[in-house]
Amino acid sequence: MKILVVNGPNLNFLGIREKGIYGNEDYDSLIKRIEEKAATLDIEVDCFQANGEGEIIDRLQSAYSDGTDGIIINPGAYTHYSIAIRDCLASLEMPKIEVHISNVHKREEFRHVSMTAPVCSGQIVGLGFNGYLLALEAIKEMKM
Ligand code: DQA
Repeated sequence: MKILVVNGPNLNFLGIREKGIYGNEDYDSLIKRIEEKAATLDIEVDCFQANGEGEIIDRLQSAYSDGTDGIIINPGAYTHYSIAIRDCLASLEMPKIEVHISNVHKREEFRHVSMTAPVCSGQIVGLGFNGYLLALEAIKEMKM
């Protein structure tokens, strides 16, 4: 099983940005944890991060034909306003889980809206890095 993990803008700045919200661990540490968990589940994982909307869409579109079985996506701030990423996700028929490290519902009102969640299978918010690991388990179970 092959899962694509997409992280959007500023997630490469984990460990630098707003540590009180996102914690002290950096992006490399997140990827290490995802790769370790994927190995225990016998999942091949491809982790991608980009700050630009177009780059994210290009990578998601390639999942249509590269053998990807499921997608985990944290679209960062694009969550709240990117109809283009939403449309792209809607065109991919496979399990898709939206993850947010912070509990977006406890934060500013503009973060309560997700353009992308309605075209995903589910959403995990507020559980820190663990959200990505739980999403791997969830997709694995959905495909079994
Ligand atoms: C985030 C929440 C978003 O509102 C924010 O813009 C981010 C990170 C999260 O993981 O909690 O960049 O997606």
